[in-house]
Amino acid sequence: MKIILLGPPGSGKGTISEQLETEFKFQHISAGELLREEVAHKTTIGKVIKTYIEAGNLVPDEFVVQLVKIAINKKDHYILDGFPRSIEQAKHIEDLHINLVLLLDVPENIVIERLANRRVCQTGVHGYHLKYLPPKKPGICDADGTTLIQRPDDTPQIIKKRFQVYHKETQPLIDYYKKSHLLQTINAADTPDTVYAQVKKVVTEAMTRIEKR
Ligand code: AP5
Ligand code: MG
Repeated sequence: MKIILLGPPGSGKGTISEQLETEFKFQHISAGELLREEVAHKTTIGKVIKTYIEAGNLVPDEFVVQLVKIAINKKDHYILDGFPRSIEQAKHIEDLHINLVLLLDVPENIVIERLANRRVCQTGVHGYHLKYLPPKKPGICDADGTTLIQRPDDTPQIIKKRFQVYHKETQPLIDYYKKSHLLQTINAADTPDTVYAQVKKVVTEAMTRIEKR
């Protein structure tokens, strides 16, 4: 089963991926995390990637497409979180035969509040919200015990830019995947439990359909 999670910044792509990974053992492939790893390791491409992320712009395809393809390798049970983010990127993975595209639909004002209160662990893998999804011990990651931090691109100015990029580059993918009948829309403005219940239902139905084939 191959799933794409599509949605604006802060719509819950990472949160839902973590939940699906735990319950259904999906591999979580996050384009943002792959890119941040390069930045953290200060690799040659990491230094270039950093400038794009910090400006809220899309990292050029020559870097991101390759990193995602290496991460996918020959896997066949995964979630692509934040990839593709443009029609051009979608064309690069047409041969993968994606089974389901989940669009996380949530208004901008809600998402801005979520990002302002987001905290992530030092590894960047686990995300929290100070009010809606707090860690058990304040300031500490439940999963790996590292100190929680704010992402450098979660400033009001960069969030605004990320939204502009989403509208211009990523939103056209909604029609693109509607045409291939892969798109299912989730009301992602609800509470985390309610959103996940919707996602779980849609994913379970899709898995059943695939098994019957
Ligand atoms: P990326 O890391 O993917 O950032 P993003 O798309 O802006 O999305 P976020 O990670 O900010 O949000 P999310 O949807 O994962 O929400 P989360 O679950 O954390 O990409 C970063 C950058 O990398 C890009 O700007 C770009 O530069 C580059 N990049 C990435 N992919 C690329 C690509 N394909 N091509 C080129 N460049 C690329 O939730 C947010 C908060 O809300 C958390 O605090 C969470 O706890 C909380 N929350 C979640 N769900 C709920 C809920 N239902 N109710 C209340 N709170 C909730
Ligand atoms: Mg994320």
